[in-house]
Amino acid sequence: MDEKKPSRMYFIGKKEDLIQAKRTTVTLDGRDILLLYHQRTFYAMDLQCYHAGSTLETGDMEEINSKLCIVCPKHKYKITLAEGEGLYKATNPTEKVPTPRWYSKGIKQRVHKVTEVDEDIFVSVSTCPVWIESDYYQSEKGRAELKKAQESGDAEADVNADEDV
Ligand code: FES
Repeated sequence: MDEKKPSRMYFIGKKEDLIQAKRTTVTLDGRDILLLYHQRTFYAMDLQCYHAGSTLETGDMEEINSKLCIVCPKHKYKITLAEGEGLYKATNPTEKVPTPRWYSKGIKQRVHKVTEVDEDIFVSVSTCPVWIESDYYQSEKGRAELKKAQESGDAEADVNADEDV
């Protein structure tokens, strides 16, 4: 992505229609994006989960440490709606009484800017030049991998599925 290129605002639809729909998928600048409406706010993020490319469209919502998250339907990874941060639960074995806590993996899912103008909703695709893991499934190689997995009966390699989520 070119950091100097200004981010174009794409008209997605009328606010009321998108509130009714709750979740809408669009392809902008060749990127599959999920626009969702939750607790009176619109969010936009890459549609395919950074972990193994499953669609986030049907993910449940959860609040963790005061952050709203989408839970990937495939392996239940938690992703914050506002930042695209991956959260996981773990215990610190050096603690006297190890207590499970939520930790951050950092930004894993690319999020995009949503703008409302006169009841119309626009999305600007993120042009942040830093590589974010969900970028992989927006690439030719990542899409080819997903297609191959789907053709072979979704025999996706669940190599990371045993991580604490
Ligand atoms: S594909 Fe989303 S958690 Fe594995």
